[in-house]
Amino acid sequence: MPHNFFYFENQIIEFDEGMSVAAALLRKGINDFRQTQVTQQPRGPFCMMGACFDCLLVIDGLTNQQGCMYLAKQGIRVSRHPSYPLLEMI
Ligand code: FES
Repeated sequence: MPHNFFYFENQIIEFDEGMSVAAALLRKGINDFRQTQVTQQPRGPFCMMGACFDCLLVIDGLTNQQGCMYLAKQGIRVSRHPSYPLLEMI
C-alpha cells in the first residue's frame, strides 16, 4: 500500500504532499470528473485555479467540491460528480 493515497471509486490514487485532488487524478490519467447537464458531455479540470468549476467532485460524501482547490489527504474518498437533471420551467 502506498504511503500517500486516496480512494477514487475503485482505484487507489497516490499523491505527493501539497498536491490537489485534481492534480493527482490528472497524473493518473483520469480527466473526466463530471458531465454537463444538457448534453451529458464529460468535463474535467480546465483552469486549475478555482475559476471554471469544471473539476467538481464528490469528496467524502460532499458534492460540489472543487478538485483543483482541495488538497489531497490520506484516505479520503473521491468520486465523479453526478449529473443532475435540469429543472423544468413551468
Ligand atoms: S479546474 Fe477550474 S475550478 Fe477547478
